[in-house]
Amino acid sequence: MQLILPMLFLLLAPVAVTACEGDCIIDITNEYLNRYENILLTTLQNLETYHDDTQATQISEQLVPAASRRENSIVYFAPVLKAYNLTAYNSLEKAIFPSYFHGKCQDENGVNPSGCPNPDCPKVCGTPGSMVHFYPTLIKIVFDGTSSLLTNLTVPGSKPYNQIQQMVMADVNEGQKKRMENLSRIMPLRSRAAIQARSTHSVQQGLKKILKELRPTMLETCGGSNLSFCSWEQPMKEFILQYP
Ligand SMILES: *[C@@H]1O[C@H](CO)[C@@H](O)[C@H](O)[C@H]1NC(C)=O
Ligand SMILES: *[C@@H]1O[C@H](CO)[C@@H](O)[C@H](O)[C@H]1NC(C)=O
Ligand SMILES: *[C@@H]1O[C@H](CO)[C@@H](O)[C@H](O)[C@H]1NC(C)=O
Ligand SMILES: *[C@@H]1O[C@H](CO)[C@@H](O)[C@H](O)[C@H]1NC(C)=O
Repeated sequence: MQLILPMLFLLLAPVAVTACEGDCIIDITNEYLNRYENILLTTLQNLETYHDDTQATQISEQLVPAASRRENSIVYFAPVLKAYNLTAYNSLEKAIFPSYFHGKCQDENGVNPSGCPNPDCPKVCGTPGSMVHFYPTLIKIVFDGTSSLLTNLTVPGSKPYNQIQQMVMADVNEGQKKRMENLSRIMPLRSRAAIQARSTHSVQQGLKKILKELRPTMLETCGGSNLSFCSWEQPMKEFILQYP
């Protein structure tokens, strides 16, 4: 029985043998997600310590007063990681299959699109062979999909963005409260409120500026435009080709 069933399946559905479907799709998507985990953490770590040419733009050093700084400011990104975790699988699977690689190329009558099958036919089949053939395209799809999702999750006004801003503001206010306590006897209440409003605005501007660097920082973490650190060419090609 154990042998007959798969063989029967082969005879009945010869197309399914070569298309990446089911486990092939799920496993390849998950394999890239796993490999991106460290890239993501490194990107956020780099973002947190990012300096542009004119000015340091770190959340902890630039935005939060010393008195209320966190030891590890990567915690500010927790809302992004949480939202990413919930959406990344569906988003990446869709970006690879079927946005670019189509499971089967044949239509419902088993007819190939014109010019197919051949690796460069206009409709790219989602066979393991064509994924390896188009490997540079595949890693670009994975990078673009991942960085686009993260960019969307950190765009001003998004839920994770608002949560980050809330955390940062809470720490800023905490630090200012401590500083104000020292000044409270000599400074009128109205001036204190003005200082606070100004700093809210500058924190928001600073945070926007830092989060805008997410994609370029991720590209840098991936080794630049050839994505050499986010390719894993040899092991991933082997991984993909284990599927028939
Ligand atoms: C989300 O978190 C779960 C549980 O920790 C983990 O198994 C899964 O791989 C994560 N998914 C992504 C896309 O990071
Ligand atoms: C990011 O947002 C843009 C604009 O709304 C959308 O076109 C794109 O598909 C989104 N990317 C992902 C990965 O969800
Ligand atoms: C407040 O003043 C005390 C004593 O002058 C000082 O030790 C402390 O560092 C000050 N706190 C802040 C947040 O500036
Ligand atoms: C990728 O680009 C970097 C710098 O942009 C270069 O040092 C490296 O040799 C390139 N790698 C490949 C495999 O082309």
